[in-house]
Amino acid sequence: MTQKTAIVTGAARGIGLATTRLFLAEGRCVAMIDRDAEELIRVAAGLDSVLPVICDVSDPAQVDEMVAEVTDRFGRIDALVNNAGVADFGPIEQTDFQRWRAVMETNLDGVFLCSQAVTQALKETAGAIVNIASISGLRASTLRVAYGTSKAGVIQLTQQLAIELGEYGVRANCVAPGPVDTKLALAVHTPEIRAAYHDAIPLNRYGSEEEIAQMIVFLCSDKASYVTGQTIAVDGGFQATGVGLPALRT
Ligand SMILES: NC(=O)c1ccc[n+]([C@@H]2O[C@H](COP(=O)([O-])OP(=O)(O)OC[C@H]3O[C@@H](n4cnc5c(N)ncnc54)[C@H](O)[C@@H]3O)[C@@H](O)[C@H]2O)c1
Repeated sequence: MTQKTAIVTGAARGIGLATTRLFLAEGRCVAMIDRDAEELIRVAAGLDSVLPVICDVSDPAQVDEMVAEVTDRFGRIDALVNNAGVADFGPIEQTDFQRWRAVMETNLDGVFLCSQAVTQALKETAGAIVNIASISGLRASTLRVAYGTSKAGVIQLTQQLAIELGEYGVRANCVAPGPVDTKLALAVHTPEIRAAYHDAIPLNRYGSEEEIAQMIVFLCSDKASYVTGQTIAVDGGFQATGVGLPALRT
């Protein structure tokens, strides 16, 4: 098969689905990975050139089976987008070990397991990995003891991958989205939080799924052939605001 391929985890909705659509528009075949079987099958039924694979990225055996199935069908893997993620916000005293582990299992273990499982295939194509972190991995905040820590881990893991795999021509980069209107954000952002974000973000709005997908697809493409080990915030300027006190505004 000469057509380029990509694996996108968490592809049944949100940023993962938007990324899948953009890859397809650029002529790639896409393996859509999700643990939400019903939604994945429903969404994939309306798309050409996709291979839906039901898989929990936090389970090593399921990840190995998923990569075997994708390799069998596509014959090559050119990109891996580690996008599957969960958000569970709460103060440290209410974040019991089970909640902590549930966040780490998907957000950090899943990125490690999928990256490790495709390393050999990516070496063969000099392919690319793009991991999805968050501004919560760059800037600490209340209620994000688990989520923010998992995403900071993803940023460091991206650098580890870039350094170790660079000599094989494999690139690894990270996208750190600001708030995006998806089911994940709707579940943890109250109307008050939404208003406060609008106020704090220089572009005064949430991002769209497509705006995040554009950066992911760019980083996977040959246009980014000399970019590796980087974290790009796609956040309307939020990361750049520094002190950012409302009282300092003119
Ligand atoms: N939406 C935001 O505001 C925002 C901001 C910063 C970062 N992010 C990150 O972007 C990524 C995508 O978020 P989204 O907003 O599109 O979320 P979403 O909840 O809309 O979609 C996430 C998808 O991942 C799947 N998933 C979750 N855990 C999984 C697992 N263990 N195995 C397989 N599939 C799994 C879900 O079933 C779902 O289809 C996440 O990593 C998230 O942390 C989102």
